[in-house]
Amino acid sequence: MGKIIAIVNQKGGVGKTTTSINLSASLGILKKKVLLVDLDPQGNATTGVGLERGDIKNSIYEVLVKKCTVNDAIVKTKSKNLSLIPAYLNLAGVDMELVELEREYKERNEPFSRITRLKEELYQIKDKFDFIIIDCPPSLGILTTNALAAADSVLIPVQCEYFALEGIMQLINTIMLAQKKVNPNLDIEGVLLTMLTANTNLGLEVIESIRNFFKERVYDTIIPRLIRLAEAPSHGKPILEYEPRSRGTLAYLNLAKEVIERNGTKEESVR
Ligand SMILES: Nc1ncnc2c1ncn2[C@@H]1O[C@H](COP(=O)(O)OP(=O)(O)OP(=O)(O)O)[C@@H](O)[C@H]1O
Ligand SMILES: [Mg+2]
Repeated sequence: MGKIIAIVNQKGGVGKTTTSINLSASLGILKKKVLLVDLDPQGNATTGVGLERGDIKNSIYEVLVKKCTVNDAIVKTKSKNLSLIPAYLNLAGVDMELVELEREYKERNEPFSRITRLKEELYQIKDKFDFIIIDCPPSLGILTTNALAAADSVLIPVQCEYFALEGIMQLINTIMLAQKKVNPNLDIEGVLLTMLTANTNLGLEVIESIRNFFKERVYDTIIPRLIRLAEAPSHGKPILEYEPRSRGTLAYLNLAKEVIERNGTKEESVR
């Protein structure tokens, strides 16, 4: 049974998409079958693994509003063992459409929940993958709520900066609410420190405060701030293809190994 991990933080620009892309590709190279689900209307994970807007036939939007089946929206990427359900801007209007659909279904006395749409779809294909990684948008709206209902666990990227913990309590409250209302088994997969600038005291202070707060949930791996990691998406490639020998590649491979370890299966050696 595949594990569904949502990459969540309502704060913008903390490394959710960079982590979604590179963790997914790294798990793939470590011989895990991975599905990356882009759940952000910005579609950055989609373009980041090399899919152009013009290449998209069906996206997560069509899946959520039942215009296509989940299987029809899955595409293979050029990366090893990595499939994708893409997203683009039409996803931004899904909220109102789901409300409307729910109303129509209720009128016909048919079951429909706009909160569990993603869960219902992903459960049909869970068996086909070892990991399903969901890249969430920077908000706690209907899309993130769907991710929290569908996921087995959440991975929280936290940027190594002064205001890192800002908004974290709100995120924790939202996770606890999801546990109470829709997903009692929802777990915290881990907390990932991202964009560490080398040799700054500030970075070290932030690391200490986050480790004090989240304890052993924090991964040993810290993602450094590297220009190559910021460049790779514009080439439509994960870092391990864009610059295989960079520190960014190593960092995300190490993260993938930690994720595999925490999930109790030993990673197989890199080909
Ligand atoms: N380790 C890193 N080193 C350098 N730049 C990075 C790193 N991680 C992410 N970035 C850059 O920082 C910006 C924000 O990263 P990213 O898009 O991954 O964050 P996000 O949390 O998904 O943002 P959003 O909330 O908008 O979805 C991007 O331009 C990205 O290329
Ligand atoms: Mg993003």
